[in-house]
Amino acid sequence: MHMAEREQARPSRRTFAKQALAVGAATVAARTLPTPLHAQGTTAVPGFVGKDSLKAHAAAHGLFAGAAVNLHLLDTNPAYKQTLIEQCNIVVAENAMKWGPMRPTPDTFQFDEADRLVAFAEQHGMAIRGHNLCWHEQLPGWFEATVTKSNAEEFLVKHIQTVAGRYRGKIRAWDVVNEAIKPEDGQPDGFRNGPWYKLLGPRFIEIAFRTARAADPHALLTYNDYDIETDRPQDVVKRAAVLQLIEHMKQTGMPIDAVGVQSHLSTGSAAQIGAGLDTFVSRVQALGLKVFVTELDVNDDSLGDGTSPDEGLRARQQAVAEVYGRYVGSMLKHPAVTDVLTWGVANGASWLNAPGKGGAKFRPLHPDRKEVCLPFTDAYAPEPAFFALRTAYDSRTS
Ligand code: XIL
Repeated sequence: MHMAEREQARPSRRTFAKQALAVGAATVAARTLPTPLHAQGTTAVPGFVGKDSLKAHAAAHGLFAGAAVNLHLLDTNPAYKQTLIEQCNIVVAENAMKWGPMRPTPDTFQFDEADRLVAFAEQHGMAIRGHNLCWHEQLPGWFEATVTKSNAEEFLVKHIQTVAGRYRGKIRAWDVVNEAIKPEDGQPDGFRNGPWYKLLGPRFIEIAFRTARAADPHALLTYNDYDIETDRPQDVVKRAAVLQLIEHMKQTGMPIDAVGVQSHLSTGSAAQIGAGLDTFVSRVQALGLKVFVTELDVNDDSLGDGTSPDEGLRARQQAVAEVYGRYVGSMLKHPAVTDVLTWGVANGASWLNAPGKGGAKFRPLHPDRKEVCLPFTDAYAPEPAFFALRTAYDSRTS
């Protein structure tokens, strides 16, 4: 169906939003599973579950489609949970498998949330991405005073053995190392001057990947990074350094199976996504690796409000949807790209909409405006981005 026909077939967005909000409110009140929109007796809402879901359209092409999961919402919000079940054939923990949440003390591990995510995914036949085993952020508070040059390798190895070992055979892909490249830091080969690099030098990469392979030989071992999508000068430099790292890893026999392109996109720079990323994906594919879109969202801060907030909202929804469609469509032209995950489900809970100073850094132009960055409204109704994403899955030919 063309966009114009679909628009005619739909209720106005306001009616739609009202219906959706009613569903959300009823759900919260009843504390039961939501009545899905498609079962509300309305024929005007375009189908978006069952055969019309993201996962059905993705699976028809052998693709994995899913989202990052917030464990608190999974535990407390039935509509959120239901949406994950209906839409995702793969999930990843937004935070629960990072060092910070998993390592309360230097000698202990906290598995509760990660275990719940794994059990949920298994119960519903979803694949799981593990995120992540080695990163410079969200390290536990004790890390800095405890981990030294002489014990860093031991800490890294033990962590990976324990965490990847616990979920051995259950994880489709592990982000073994996250965000190790940052050319602005001025280190050789573009390495980020982060804690692991300071403690161990570049060999932390090899330690992490070899330990991960031994701990879970079934998982696709992934290097994951951001700001490698556009042809802006800083992205071009960073992308080249990431490719150099991947090539070096392959040449020296390090175990790596995939590259994660985080894909935190924005309406302001999406026009500069093109040839550079295509060439990068082709090169990674030629090395025999897979490529995953791991953390997709679209920041709309660059867009104005138009003549009214309502009109501005519609324009932002369409612009964001256009970025989703074009980006995922062009990534899926490469057979190596097999997995697409959004960084969240509904707009309100996106990290881009985090309240206060932390979140507002992503919204410098419109700090008080909520981003429409994900495929679902806060009432779990599909945004235009949902349909753009689904059409992109349908465009897969390989
Ligand atoms: C973000 C989470 O979404 C936030 O909830 C958290 O406060 C900070 O981390 N790149 C990554 C993710 O690899 O782990 C980050 O997730 C977003 C950027």
